[in-house]
Amino acid sequence: MVSSREIRLKSRPMGTITQDNFEMVAVEVASPAENEVLVKNLWMSIDAGQRTLMAKGETELLNLDLPARWFELGEVMEGQVIGQVIESRNKNLPVGTYIITNRGWREYFTFSGKPDGFTLTVLNDPIAPLTSYLHVMSIYGASAYFHVTACAKVQAGETVWISTAAGTTGSMASQIAKMSGCRVVGTTGHDEKVDWLLQHLKLDAAFNYKRSDLQQAMKAACPDGIDVYIDYAGGRQLEVAIDLMNPHGRIIKVGDTSMYDGGVPTGPSNIFQLVLKRVSILGCSIFDYLAPPSRLATCYKRLGRWVAEGKIVVHETVYDGIENAVQAQIDLFKGKNLGKMLVKLGDPEDLG
Ligand SMILES: NC(=O)c1ccc[n+]([C@@H]2O[C@H](COP(=O)([O-])OP(=O)(O)OC[C@H]3O[C@@H](n4cnc5c(N)ncnc54)[C@H](OP(=O)(O)O)[C@@H]3O)[C@@H](O)[C@H]2O)c1
Repeated sequence: MVSSREIRLKSRPMGTITQDNFEMVAVEVASPAENEVLVKNLWMSIDAGQRTLMAKGETELLNLDLPARWFELGEVMEGQVIGQVIESRNKNLPVGTYIITNRGWREYFTFSGKPDGFTLTVLNDPIAPLTSYLHVMSIYGASAYFHVTACAKVQAGETVWISTAAGTTGSMASQIAKMSGCRVVGTTGHDEKVDWLLQHLKLDAAFNYKRSDLQQAMKAACPDGIDVYIDYAGGRQLEVAIDLMNPHGRIIKVGDTSMYDGGVPTGPSNIFQLVLKRVSILGCSIFDYLAPPSRLATCYKRLGRWVAEGKIVVHETVYDGIENAVQAQIDLFKGKNLGKMLVKLGDPEDLG
């Protein structure tokens, strides 16, 4: 038996999320039964997509074949987390094994699940720092990779605009587009992040999307127009992009960060320009790219190599302790993360 704390969804957010939407509860976690393991969670991922799963009733989760489900009231939240097996009665998961599950938002849990790829990944001999498996070597790194290469199919010499460029997925997508020989312009909501995009990620141009003259700034930075816009943000930025797209340009719609946390849904007022300019717009989800395993393995191999070669830089913003997990989620939508937002839940045990 071990004492643990967990975060449960108490009420559905109306508008922006607040601390009152959640409660932290102390529980006792039983020792593992036959075939079970006791896991201590170490690092938890905070991501933008989690917000969409809290808002049942506010938006519709389309009845599509996606491995996502609404968070239910009173239940412990879910999210990607790296844990360490600290007691084992399962020969496949010996003490000391690091595993990735979707059982974040809690400190400890017992587990009997069989490895099934998405809900449990066993990290045999991690080759990179543990936290990498929550960003570059995870579904977010894979998202960035496939958004740029498979969805946008960028070509050397093209001008590519990437919004939410200083966040987890956008920052990696920006660097992959740069490596592909594109001219890359990134947008973010904070001036210090603009500096990071220019100085550390070496983007060709970067802007704060909150500035009132965004359209003029983008136009000046892209004298040959925009060939590809990878849209993580939606809202006003999508509208500006439609205005600036070149004929036959491609818009890749992958996210809507401006809408998730209480943003007022707005459609682009200039959508008819897509017709006039024959611009295509493609919705893209990482869940279409997780199979076959060989393609995903190639993606991770490349991402790992690029990190080792210093071609991909990932910054981590770390909040400490489960008591700060909700604040981390709130602050993600204030843009307080540079790169990946993580919560450190504990240190690995010395199981000697
Ligand atoms: N379709 C797919 O396959 C797929 C896969 C992974 C992720 N995604 C999408 O990628 C996007 C980023 O997700 P992530 O988990 O990597 O999060 P993230 O970029 O690490 O963090 C979210 C960022 O959203 C920005 N933001 C917050 N409020 C905003 C607003 N009102 N308008 C514009 N931007 C705002 C903030 O950056 P600023 O400070 O710059 O505002 C914040 O840092 C999300 O839209 C997510 O759904 C899509």
